[in-house]
Amino acid sequence: MTQDAPKNGQIIVERLGAVLRLTMDNSGKKNAISREMYLQMVEALDSTAEDHSIRAVWLRGADGVFSSGNDVNGFNAPKGEEPAPVQFVRSLINYPKPIVAQVEGLAVGIGVTLLLHCDIIYAADDTKFRMPFVNLGVVPEAGSSYLLPRLMGAPRAAELILLGRVFGAAEAHELGLISRVLPQAEVADAAEQAVTALSKQPLRAMMKSRALLRDVSGEALTERVAEEFRQFFEGLQGPEFAEAARAFMEKREPDFSKIAV
Ligand code: COA
Repeated sequence: MTQDAPKNGQIIVERLGAVLRLTMDNSGKKNAISREMYLQMVEALDSTAEDHSIRAVWLRGADGVFSSGNDVNGFNAPKGEEPAPVQFVRSLINYPKPIVAQVEGLAVGIGVTLLLHCDIIYAADDTKFRMPFVNLGVVPEAGSSYLLPRLMGAPRAAELILLGRVFGAAEAHELGLISRVLPQAEVADAAEQAVTALSKQPLRAMMKSRALLRDVSGEALTERVAEEFRQFFEGLQGPEFAEAARAFMEKREPDFSKIAV
């Protein structure tokens, strides 16, 4: 983390010519995404959605780690505020220009599911991926329960979600989750080349193509995202999440055996 970075982490927002680079920087927590960080990404995305001096987005994590997902201790939204992850996923889905993700080290939770809304995803060959939603006593979010089975088939999606097991970059590639696997030393260059090339493409055709590839008009995805987040936040109030969060803080295995449904 940069020396003067705030306690809850930050998003380093840079304009590099026609490219908007967003760096998730909360390295004391493996770039866990705090409410503040979600809201900074929402602001950066929403304020450039119609500003066509920006033609592509480059998303990465600081210090060779993509993200450990939602800050496990930071799920609570101030009263009356729409939860920050909900705002973030909407901004990502609605963003009209291409998003390139540079994935290294770890991608966990929403650090994986957000990739479903990026366009070109390059991952270092030693990246570890994991979606431990069930393990935390919650359900998958960000449209992943809708998109993952369509991407890789229901049995493979179920294995990753219900077990919440770790998988590597080669498997992520085979499952269609990422565009390419690269040696660690080459990922940043590849991402830079992609955003540079994208920023030279004709913008109208590129935006129309992104929309067609993603079928953003589909209401089914929007409805599923809303239902997932409803169940996700309901889960956060329950005893299964309480035990998972306690176990995480106490650095032990959770014990769900005595929790009634
Ligand atoms: N939220 C808050 N803090 C987190 C975090 C998260 N998502 N992920 C990691 N951290 C913190 C750890 O608590 C630890 O803090 P400490 O140094 O004060 O003890 C620090 O970051 C380093 O993590 P550590 O677990 O020691 O590193 P690791 O390399 O052994 O494991 C992870 C990294 C990401 C695999 C592991 O930390 C993990 O499983 N984190 C939780 C991920 C998660 O459940 N995300 C939410 C999904 S909804």
